[in-house]
Amino acid sequence: MDEPTQLKGHKMSRKKKIGFTCVILVIGLVVSTGIILALANRDTTSPLETRNPSGTTGYMLIVYRPGISSFPADVMNKFAEGAISTGWKLDISTVSEISPKDISKYDLIVILSPVYMGAPQAEIATYLSSVDLLQKPVVSILACGSNTGLPAMNKLVAQISAANGTNLVQAAFNINGNRDQVLVEANQLVQIKR
Ligand SMILES: Cc1cc2nc3c(=O)[nH]c(=O)nc-3n(C[C@H](O)[C@H](O)[C@H](O)COP(=O)(O)O)c2cc1C
Repeated sequence: MDEPTQLKGHKMSRKKKIGFTCVILVIGLVVSTGIILALANRDTTSPLETRNPSGTTGYMLIVYRPGISSFPADVMNKFAEGAISTGWKLDISTVSEISPKDISKYDLIVILSPVYMGAPQAEIATYLSSVDLLQKPVVSILACGSNTGLPAMNKLVAQISAANGTNLVQAAFNINGNRDQVLVEANQLVQIKR
């Protein structure tokens, strides 16, 4: 008489265990997605930084969005190194409300962003909708995680056109590619002369 009751009890506790595990997994997924989205959209406001103030090739503004990883900033720094090696003076701004809105003194604008959900990070669109790029030449750089950065680049190019910028060069760098090679390429991207 006891045996069926024991079997039934055993079956129910297995079901409960599976249910409990599923609940834990869903909570874990929701929490980790929340953390990733919070990190991707965190406030990264910082003061404008000038590098190579004595550069004479031209005056460049880099507006960039740092990523969750160091990769977008690494690409930006390599690009900046290349620009400095060819004599550019640089202003660098992490994209925010205090990024320069009057860009009349610059010869070249660089917009750099990680790709999230097939688009540049949202602050970039907010910045570009608030600035007149005065037909200045614009270099677009994306840090992506796959070889499907094209839709994001198309969006960025359209946002730059809408801001009255002249799209000059576009480059996408994959975080999963050969990191050294990627950084060499970012460094060499600046062959642009004033
Ligand atoms: C929430 C999230 C969404 C992402 N979506 C894309 C995407 O749609 N396409 C893509 O190529 N990479 C995508 N990535 C990868 C990032 O673009 C890639 O890691 C980038 O090089 C660096 O950004 P990170 O430092 O914030 O990771 C995504 C990354 C995260 C965290």
